[in-house]
Amino acid sequence: MPAYMTSKRAPIRSRPKARTSPLTPSQIRSFQKKVYNYYDNQGRDLPWRKRVTPYRVLVSEIMLQQTQVDRVIEKYKEFLAAFPDFPSLAKAPLPKLLKIWSGMGYNRRALSLRKLAQIVVAEHKGRLPSDPDILVTLPGIGKYTAGAVSAFAFNKPVVFLDTNVRRVFIHEFFADRQGVHDDELVPVIERALDTDNPRKWYNALMDYGTMLKQEHGNPNVRSAHYTRQSPFENSNRQVRGRILKALVHGAALTEDRIVKETGMDAERVKKNLEQLEREGFLIKKRDRYLIHDV
Ligand code: ADE
Repeated sequence: MPAYMTSKRAPIRSRPKARTSPLTPSQIRSFQKKVYNYYDNQGRDLPWRKRVTPYRVLVSEIMLQQTQVDRVIEKYKEFLAAFPDFPSLAKAPLPKLLKIWSGMGYNRRALSLRKLAQIVVAEHKGRLPSDPDILVTLPGIGKYTAGAVSAFAFNKPVVFLDTNVRRVFIHEFFADRQGVHDDELVPVIERALDTDNPRKWYNALMDYGTMLKQEHGNPNVRSAHYTRQSPFENSNRQVRGRILKALVHGAALTEDRIVKETGMDAERVKKNLEQLEREGFLIKKRDRYLIHDV
């Protein structure tokens, strides 16, 4: 029987081999020079880079998880004016918190951030831990954010990989490859890390990565981890944003009224209202929805 008629499946294609030739010290030096040269001349003046404190860095990183830099900048200033430190955030009333968060989407991040502030106040004497292994145990902090906070807030020489870092390394070191896996990038990132100044190095990588996307299209389409955000997810986010905007002033509104206020499709609004209720953002009292503070 020919092989194609057997029930055996084709072997799963193994991951392409990692780079075999290690980077030389002079390749590393010239790469660092190029990135720093760009940063020194065209680096961005971002508000969380001024007056660096663990709290300010943490807030910026949580905001930047799923929202573009340009949109974060204004929100970040507003957020810090309202909640300047861990104790004030720990006590934030939910409607006020969501009002300031509105427009950024993924509102669960705001709740996690407040919870995190409560833990820092109650269990860490008001000081954010610097160890990524501890940070990652806190609400809303994944592996990337733990590394980023550790580097940006505490200047620790940790290796971390976000979308900008991924872009830079794929563009510079995997120019002829498709399906680049993060496991292949990590050793290169580690070798290239400026251990004398990790904060400056990662800031420079962020800006260099942003420039690459603008100038060369997105190198991350060649990442094995690349996913495009679905338009559906995007528009649900918008519906949820508008629902919360209608409710942040504290009123309890009927579904019909919320549909009118949002100006969006009634069925979509209904589905999102139910989802927000399941997630604990809203409660329903008789036929009216309102923001639920916990
Ligand atoms: N994206 C995630 N963190 C960032 C930062 N600190 N600066 C710019 N862009 C970022």
